[in-house]
Amino acid sequence: MRQPLVAGNWKMNGTTESITALVDGIKAGIDAVKTAEMVVCPPYVYLPMVAALLQGTAVRCGAQDVSDRESGAFTGEVAAGMLADIGCKYVIVGHSERRNLYGESDAFTARKFAAARKAGLVPIVCVGELLEEREEGITEQVVARQLDAVISLDGIAALESAVIAYEPVWAIGTGKTATPQQAQDVHAFIRGKLAGFDSKVAERVRILYGGSMNAANAAELLSMPDIDGGLVGGASLKPADFLAIGQASND
Ligand code: 13P
Repeated sequence: MRQPLVAGNWKMNGTTESITALVDGIKAGIDAVKTAEMVVCPPYVYLPMVAALLQGTAVRCGAQDVSDRESGAFTGEVAAGMLADIGCKYVIVGHSERRNLYGESDAFTARKFAAARKAGLVPIVCVGELLEEREEGITEQVVARQLDAVISLDGIAALESAVIAYEPVWAIGTGKTATPQQAQDVHAFIRGKLAGFDSKVAERVRILYGGSMNAANAAELLSMPDIDGGLVGGASLKPADFLAIGQASND
């Protein structure tokens, strides 16, 4: 059985004050989340503070990005080992905002994925098509290409200690959610593709959906057989909404 995972990607939002309030709100209601593993991904600078605030709770921390290098003269970068050192368990790699706004390639994302695993972090690798790619009918090719970069660098077994997030770019921050069936179709494609390499890995890997997931649409998305959780942006900034998404996967 795959344990559901709901991860909040806070993106570049928050202050010391607002993040303290957000964490307090999550802690106050977390007992109502029975089944899902809950993760928050704050901006780097707030990670040690959030990790300290979450100490003793079941909520885990993740980072939003990571360097592909281990240490040294790489100004502005943050190494996976540093994230592990301050108590992170997860790290997002290859988010579409990194790929599309900052030009990060499939190969670069794969190197970040490998660096994260080497340091003992669990990478959450994001894949997903642009609107024009969906309209062209090449969603599966795009997602396959993005996954192949990771598999060819780090091997299929690496995905057993990783998470995949399918985030159609046209659904991110737009309020335009993929329908549960649209999402399920791509999730099933991903699992089927992985099964072509290793059926055990395919069966075990958690595949999250991301893109305008909210308290109202989460239950239906999470009820689909190959959707194992969510990577949540906007709705994760409100404790009640984030917790409601977690509760939507209660047994
Ligand atoms: P929204 O939930 O705001 O659409 O963002 C999704 C996302 O990009 C999570 O990584």
